[in-house]
Amino acid sequence: MAVIVTGAAGFIGFHVAAALLNRGEAVIGVDNLNAYYDPALKEARLAYLRRFAGFRFHRIDVADKAAMFALVDASPEVDRVIHLAAQAGVRYSLEDPWAYVDANVHGQLTVMEACLRLPACRHLVYASSSSVYGGNTKLPFAVADAVDRPISIYAATKRAAELFAETYAHLHRLPMTGLRFFSVYGPWGRPDMAAYIFTDAILHDRPIEVFNAGDMRRDFTYIDDIVAGVLAALERPPADAGPEDRPHRIYNLGNHTSEDLNRFIRLIETACGRSARRIPKGMQPGDVRATYADIDSAQRDLGFQPSTPIDTGIARFVAWYRDYHDM
Ligand SMILES: NC(=O)c1ccc[n+]([C@@H]2O[C@H](COP(=O)([O-])OP(=O)(O)OC[C@H]3O[C@@H](n4cnc5c(N)ncnc54)[C@H](O)[C@@H]3O)[C@@H](O)[C@H]2O)c1
Repeated sequence: MAVIVTGAAGFIGFHVAAALLNRGEAVIGVDNLNAYYDPALKEARLAYLRRFAGFRFHRIDVADKAAMFALVDASPEVDRVIHLAAQAGVRYSLEDPWAYVDANVHGQLTVMEACLRLPACRHLVYASSSSVYGGNTKLPFAVADAVDRPISIYAATKRAAELFAETYAHLHRLPMTGLRFFSVYGPWGRPDMAAYIFTDAILHDRPIEVFNAGDMRRDFTYIDDIVAGVLAALERPPADAGPEDRPHRIYNLGNHTSEDLNRFIRLIETACGRSARRIPKGMQPGDVRATYADIDSAQRDLGFQPSTPIDTGIARFVAWYRDYHDM
């Protein structure tokens, strides 16, 4: 048996693949290694994964139907799929909305169709995002809240993927779990996200741009907690309870702590041993002021219990950053 992990060269996909390989599973990694951020980081993650005998890698675009179908047709041993490949990032979705529809909507459809071709596929776990909550002001964000008012194309494509999944669970009874991740950070993290941007700037003595003068709150979630949540979900495919129900569930995976952005920056300053020079900026279009995850259902159904406070997580991130960049 084997697991396909899409986005395996990405931040979360890399960690999930490594965790599966560490427990002896066979992993088929898929990624198109696009240049949204430095592909050298993606190659470095792959180099780590390639040390495991159980790892195979295919450079494929998940929206490429012919390539994805050829892969699954040649891999009948796959019984689970974790779909993490996506065009991520809220801000870039204002620049190139097509990239988001291609990767996140077309890609979701193609991955689901690929699963249907797999004779033994019993579960598709896919990534959604806290951004689907859009401008909701009721905190914490709960899965049952209305999410029909996205404020970025990224969010709209993630919500579309959830709706496509709901439809496929109804039509094809394919068991699926969607996970709404909340601001994930940690070693091997993404260069377009806050922890990396701030650390990089502070250690290179460049000023940092602080949006909304730091009056923002984020539910920052440490990567190891996310991996534990993904693996717990993977082991619990939703049951098919008959025509009135669909074998599709959605969960929030967050730390259940809404942190002040200024405190987040202070922790990075402490870990770097230097102060940041701050440039106050306005609110960015598409950005939300606060995120905060209600994780009750993930705790109940998945046993999800995030355990890494940002004080610990940020110190680990900065230590990785220094080591990776040799500084
Ligand atoms: N990191 C977070 O805070 C966060 C929060 C919410 C949701 N998510 C979601 O989690 C998933 C993983 O995010 P990440 O932080 O690891 O991002 P990432 O950009 O590091 O990883 C995504 C990977 O997918 C690959 N990819 C993109 N488009 C592709 C395509 N069409 N075909 C094949 N591969 C493709 C990229 O090359 C990249 O390696 C994504 O679905 C993202 O939307 C992440």
